[in-house]
Amino acid sequence: MRYNDTSELEISLLLEAIFQKYGYDFRQYSEAHIRRRVMNRMAMSGLSDISQMQSKVINDESFASELLQDLSITVTEMFRDPDFYRSLRENVLPLLKTYPFIKIWHAGCATGQEAYSMAIIMQEEGLYERTTLYATDFNPQALKRAKEGIFPNSLMKEYTSNYQSAGGKESFSSYYISDHDNVIMNQSLKKNIVWANHNLVTDSVFAEVHLILCRNVLIYFDKNLQNKVQKLFYNSLINGGILCLGSKESLRFTDLHEEYTELDKKQRIFKKKY
Ligand SMILES: C[S@@+](CC[C@H](N)C(=O)[O-])C[C@H]1O[C@@H](n2cnc3c(N)ncnc32)[C@H](O)[C@@H]1O
Repeated sequence: MRYNDTSELEISLLLEAIFQKYGYDFRQYSEAHIRRRVMNRMAMSGLSDISQMQSKVINDESFASELLQDLSITVTEMFRDPDFYRSLRENVLPLLKTYPFIKIWHAGCATGQEAYSMAIIMQEEGLYERTTLYATDFNPQALKRAKEGIFPNSLMKEYTSNYQSAGGKESFSSYYISDHDNVIMNQSLKKNIVWANHNLVTDSVFAEVHLILCRNVLIYFDKNLQNKVQKLFYNSLINGGILCLGSKESLRFTDLHEEYTELDKKQRIFKKKY
């Protein structure tokens, strides 16, 4: 591989060092994303160049952990993109209802809001008892917060509005209890959620599932890596299973484009062909 400039080579060596020392593989993430985050961390840490950063990453585990947080963007919301959840209720749940048990995989679940949103929908549709939700991420800190299900009270206004726009049937506040500055999600939502550490780049098929949500994750990967992860999803879905991507993500340029039909083009919901 030829590098256009020195910093490109330095970033590539930095990513190689992270992989060799800690096993996290960012080598096929989008260059623009990695560059932005690395430069940002360099400025915040007072380091003068990327090679200095390389040596710090190798010798200082807490710095490496900080960099991992930077590289894994964990921004998320309850009922993020409410129209997506409306479409899910309308177009996907009637299919899921036909199965005696339902397995759902949230790949890249961050701090868990997407899995809690799905748990709420499954409860409202009377499907929760026969559903298992696997919620995975490679970021241990995000997963810990997801499992706790404790979120700032200050976010509830926005989450309530998302929930209502998404076609919510109850009062959103019935799904948590308030505790001073935070809310704690109900135990009845957590019951069937299995939280697990899984790296989409280095780990293999997770389980055979009926529905996969991997939203706002692939956007950080380069085309080759997107293709590789799409194969993982394809192999994890039952025939007729459903794949949901984020609003800026697509199957269009992947090898598996022909293997799915579009259930909702705008909301990026695809059905694996039989
Ligand atoms: C922007 S969040 C998306 C959260 C949620 N899916 C949503 O749409 O709101 C991206 C998540 O992908 C996770 N992620 C990035 N690379 C990953 C990988 N290789 N394996 C597993 N998770 C990964 C990050 O840790 C982060 O929590």
